Amino acid sequence: MAKAAVMGYGTVGSGVVNVLVTNADIVAKKAGEPIEVKYILDIRKFPGDPMEDRIIDDFAVIENDPEISVVAEVMGGTGVAYEFTKRALMAGKSVCTSNKALVAEYGTELCAIAEESGVSYLYEASCGGGIPIIRPLRNALTADKILSIGGIFNGTTNYILTKMEKEGLGYAEVLKMAQDMGYAERDPSADVDGWDTCRKLAILGSIAYDTQISYKDIRTEGISAIDAADIRYAEMIGKRIKLLAVSRNTDEGIYAVVIPAMIGVSSPLYAVDDVFNAVLVNGNMLGDVMFYGQGAGKDATGSAVVSDIVDVVAHQGKCGAAPAHEKCVLLDADGMTYRFFGRVKADAEETRAAVNAAFGEACVISSDDLPGESAFVTDAMTEAEFKVKAEKVPGLIKFIRILIE
Ligand code: HSE
Repeated sequence: MAKAAVMGYGTVGSGVVNVLVTNADIVAKKAGEPIEVKYILDIRKFPGDPMEDRIIDDFAVIENDPEISVVAEVMGGTGVAYEFTKRALMAGKSVCTSNKALVAEYGTELCAIAEESGVSYLYEASCGGGIPIIRPLRNALTADKILSIGGIFNGTTNYILTKMEKEGLGYAEVLKMAQDMGYAERDPSADVDGWDTCRKLAILGSIAYDTQISYKDIRTEGISAIDAADIRYAEMIGKRIKLLAVSRNTDEGIYAVVIPAMIGVSSPLYAVDDVFNAVLVNGNMLGDVMFYGQGAGKDATGSAVVSDIVDVVAHQGKCGAAPAHEKCVLLDADGMTYRFFGRVKADAEETRAAVNAAFGEACVISSDDLPGESAFVTDAMTEAEFKVKAEKVPGLIKFIRILIE
């Protein structure tokens, strides 16, 4: 019988416990022995909870208990979680986590400590919630050079954009619904400003391209500036707006950005709605492969954490892969190529004249239900080129990138 500790009894922690209890037989079979939750670390009390007798508030109990071979760190944040993870690894316990902030900030160091201690630091649940993506990247997509990895990595923002589009609801109202359903991060800006997606892209890009991408280097924009008019225009040109992680592995180097962008029906990401995530990988031999599933939520994320716990128990703690040590210098994101959608505070005729002068030809659109403005769509060009030309368009309200599929 393997003994585990769960640190943090919030949304994901209760999901981990639920999966271990509900699927105890399946887990035991796959791990080679039953896995029992011996401790749950939380400073809160949970009177009446079926696990009440396992709840402790002193990490040293876990650290000093030789029976504990694996710890699930699902506390979140980079403070106490960092300290406890380090101490658990140094005490010879493998750690499995959903904490993408910690992995993105200290993953390389924590993997090195795990290696020195002969245990593993695993983080399948840190990207894409319940979607298996880290293990497939490490163990299955090994015959290809990965040319791109990206997609929809955040359930909260995808839920918000889907509801705004399909039900005509306001941004704040939908954000509250996502928080009530346990999808959103404690600080909603991590979701809506793109930081959650950014960290996941740094983690997945580092594995896919075998390098060390810092999340701090990734150009990151969120969805808080997207309004109903943008969604209406997108609909008029057959597109949808999604918060996308985009990265490209080119001969010159690697691009990585997080941006709200328009995508068309030919993109496999077009139909990914609500809290669902999709990770789209392109390999030089394989072509496109997409991993789709619930990117947030208690049991889906709990299932991914437990898959790591099973791996650890089945392989006696020796299943982590050493991350790359070479630091990646990303290419300037202004070098990426898109088509561009722009909104202008002018009628269609004025916009056409200005846009033709700035860009040569461009398609102009307007609608009676969007008075006092019009919009345009350009051909493909780099962002640097667009920004220079767009300065010649008076009254430009905003622009949104259109992904080239
Ligand atoms: N807040 C995240 C999301 C949870 O909405 O996708 C999973 O990382």
